[in-house]
Amino acid sequence: MDEKMLRTAVLLILSGYLGICVGEGILPPGPLSGGVAGTVMFTTTLRPAESPFSSVSWSFRGGNIITSAEGNHTGAGYANRISLDRATGALELRNLVLEDSGEYTVTIIPDGEPQKQGKTTLNVYALISGATIRSPAAILIEEKSSTNLTCEASGSISTRVWMKDGRPLNPSDRVSFSIDNRTVFIQPVNSSNHGTYQCRVSNPVSTMTVAHNLTVNFGPHNISITGPSAAPPGQKVILQCTAASVPPATFSWMLNGNETHVNSSLYIIERLGAENIGNYTCTARNMVTLQENSTVLNLRGYDGGSCLKSTK
Ligand SMILES: *[C@@H]1O[C@H](CO)[C@@H](O)[C@H](O)[C@H]1NC(C)=O
Ligand SMILES: *[C@@H]1O[C@H](CO)[C@@H](O)[C@H](O)[C@H]1NC(C)=O
Ligand SMILES: *[C@@H]1O[C@H](CO)[C@@H](O)[C@H](O)[C@H]1NC(C)=O
Ligand SMILES: *[C@@H]1O[C@H](CO)[C@@H](O)[C@H](O)[C@H]1NC(C)=O
Ligand SMILES: *[C@@H]1O[C@H](CO)[C@@H](O)[C@H](O)[C@H]1NC(C)=O
Ligand SMILES: *[C@@H]1O[C@H](CO)[C@@H](O)[C@H](O)[C@H]1NC(C)=O
Ligand SMILES: *[C@@H]1O[C@H](CO)[C@@H](O)[C@H](O)[C@H]1NC(C)=O
Ligand SMILES: *[C@@H]1O[C@H](CO)[C@@H](O)[C@H](O)[C@H]1NC(C)=O
Ligand SMILES: *[C@@H]1O[C@H](CO)[C@@H](O)[C@H](O)[C@H]1NC(C)=O
Ligand SMILES: *[C@@H]1O[C@H](CO)[C@@H](O)[C@H](O)[C@H]1NC(C)=O
Repeated sequence: MDEKMLRTAVLLILSGYLGICVGEGILPPGPLSGGVAGTVMFTTTLRPAESPFSSVSWSFRGGNIITSAEGNHTGAGYANRISLDRATGALELRNLVLEDSGEYTVTIIPDGEPQKQGKTTLNVYALISGATIRSPAAILIEEKSSTNLTCEASGSISTRVWMKDGRPLNPSDRVSFSIDNRTVFIQPVNSSNHGTYQCRVSNPVSTMTVAHNLTVNFGPHNISITGPSAAPPGQKVILQCTAASVPPATFSWMLNGNETHVNSSLYIIERLGAENIGNYTCTARNMVTLQENSTVLNLRGYDGGSCLKSTK
């Protein structure tokens, strides 16, 4: 035993007695996160000393990873997975597996000083993959149907967060979540539940977002006719009927209570004449909800215009 080794041995024994009292916190506060098959770097807060450390030693759950003093002693299973920075004591651990999760301890003996120790925790996560949203296959009709959306993925799932049409999805009297956010329950569905749902599944090292379009058949709602309520004779007049509806509504038009055989959203009058004056009724029908609604626009000739009068 030369003098240096002896001093090291004495220091090791001494520091063993002094235990946790000496040199705490030479590792930043954890925990550290790593992905399966990935790499993690345990850095210390130490700067390289003028003379090299007498010894640097890393252990995991009490077992040796590497002890580097005069020579290097590497624990079983670590030979090709680690790199030690002898100057700062930092350790790189590669090819992570879930079983690498746990507490790591570093013990450093600087040249001629008491030992310093640090502990930190590593959590290894399986990367998230294959995220999907499932929903029972059923035709949903507003106020009549209920449904649920279930978000599944492989890997270590820490959180699931739901969004609808790019905004956070919040619980309401109709929308509720299972404790782990895996399932969203919507009972009953209404028009505001129609749209694109996203589920973002994450853990500290990976994230995946999956989308699902939920079709809620609703309407027709908010039916209205846009167009002038008055126009001069001879003028081209276009009336447009709109309704919020899934699937899109079909339209029909009546003039003064008579069928017109116009069945598109637009009602076009090429040249306004007396026979075109009166009450236009647009009826919107939804072929799935079997609901319909209608609205009326009264088209007049110009104010005070004696030239245009209803034929009635
Ligand atoms: C021990 O390992 C360290 C870090 O990899 C290296 O710098 C050093 O040369 C090694 N020492 C011996 C004696 O192999
Ligand atoms: C989801 O909805 C379907 C159809 O309504 C129902 O059969 C199923 O039990 C629901 N699942 C859950 C977890 O509530
Ligand atoms: C569930 O979602 C809420 C709100 O989106 C979020 O704050 C919470 O962290 C999530 N919980 C889990 C376990 O994913
Ligand atoms: C749909 O349900 C939400 C949440 O209860 C409610 O705020 C909204 O007014 C409803 N919309 C319709 C069209 O009934
Ligand atoms: C959902 O619908 C939108 C159009 O409304 C489409 O662009 C998108 O690809 C659809 N997404 C899925 C997951 O089907
Ligand atoms: C109907 O119009 C109201 C007021 O503009 C709006 O809040 C609501 O979302 C509309 N309903 C649908 C189904 O578009
Ligand atoms: C029809 O539409 C009107 C006006 O938008 C609305 O007040 C009424 O509630 C609707 N009726 C039905 C059955 O949807
Ligand atoms: C509209 O109906 C009335 C009676 O219901 C009829 O007298 C009139 O000729 C009809 N007009 C057209 C354009 O069909
Ligand atoms: C609308 O009317 C045209 C001609 O009368 C007809 O060919 C078409 O099938 C109708 N469309 C609908 C949706 O009723
Ligand atoms: C249109 O409807 C209004 C109000 O219901 C009524 O006063 C008017 O006489 C109607 N016009 C025609 C041409 O039927």
